[in-house]
Amino acid sequence: MRYLKFLIACIVFLQMNALTYATDSIEEGNLPVIIAHRGASGSYPENTLVAYQKAIEAGADYLEIDLQMTQDGHLVTIHDQTVNDTTNGTGKVSSFSLNDLQKLDAGSWLDKQYKGVKIPTLAEVFRTFGNSAQYYIEVKKPNAYINMEEKLIEEIRNNKINLENIIIQSFELKSLEKIHKLEPSIKLVMLYWKKNKIPTNDCPKLKQLAYAVGMNHDRVTADMVKQVHEQGLRLHVYTANDDEEIDAALKSGVDGIFTNYPEKYNRDLLFMLFR
Ligand code: G3P
Ligand code: CA
Repeated sequence: MRYLKFLIACIVFLQMNALTYATDSIEEGNLPVIIAHRGASGSYPENTLVAYQKAIEAGADYLEIDLQMTQDGHLVTIHDQTVNDTTNGTGKVSSFSLNDLQKLDAGSWLDKQYKGVKIPTLAEVFRTFGNSAQYYIEVKKPNAYINMEEKLIEEIRNNKINLENIIIQSFELKSLEKIHKLEPSIKLVMLYWKKNKIPTNDCPKLKQLAYAVGMNHDRVTADMVKQVHEQGLRLHVYTANDDEEIDAALKSGVDGIFTNYPEKYNRDLLFMLFR
């Protein structure tokens, strides 16, 4: 009996270690990293501390964070430019001071048990989780805000977050170029929206600054993944939320998967369910 227990412990230990190091390398056969899209947002109020905490507990590799900026220049974690859909207020984020923004309830829209949950600042997220988490940050609408990229780099530095724990993503190439100039060693992801094929013409230029490209999960094929790998980039897909979508993403060989349900699809579980 003792021997059996020892054997099981060894197998679990070896498997955990294998998974720990199976990060999103281009090499074939590795499991993709799991990115908790807006935190564990399928079950908790998106882009809030509770959603990020639950994503960490679920074993997500990265917390995905959408950034907007308040009138007084604070970076805050909310997806839309307005507060209308995810709080009890109305109006643009940029029309609120941080003080007023944080009076809003960002939890009740999902369920009354989350009444009183606030929109956090990026600094609060960093102070809460520090270097025990990895962050996958999207600069939303960077053209709508002044010096958004500079502020982001400043927050990362002020909070002493290791650069290897950060990925920055954007649909705006110019914003990524700006970040690359400010801090060349940060990993960057160029996002594409509803593209049916990877614009491989972009890849040689992108390779100068980016680490990966991001696309809708329903557009990606194994051939696309191969093409992107041949260009020396990784491919991450957003946002796969059920078994079928996860299975298709895994079969196509992507390097990272955004999901609202890291509690269902963390890498340890994927290893057992789909391999
Ligand atoms: O960042 C990838 C994905 O999150 C982009 O879509 O609208 O959820 O920010 P969205
Ligand atoms: Ca996003």
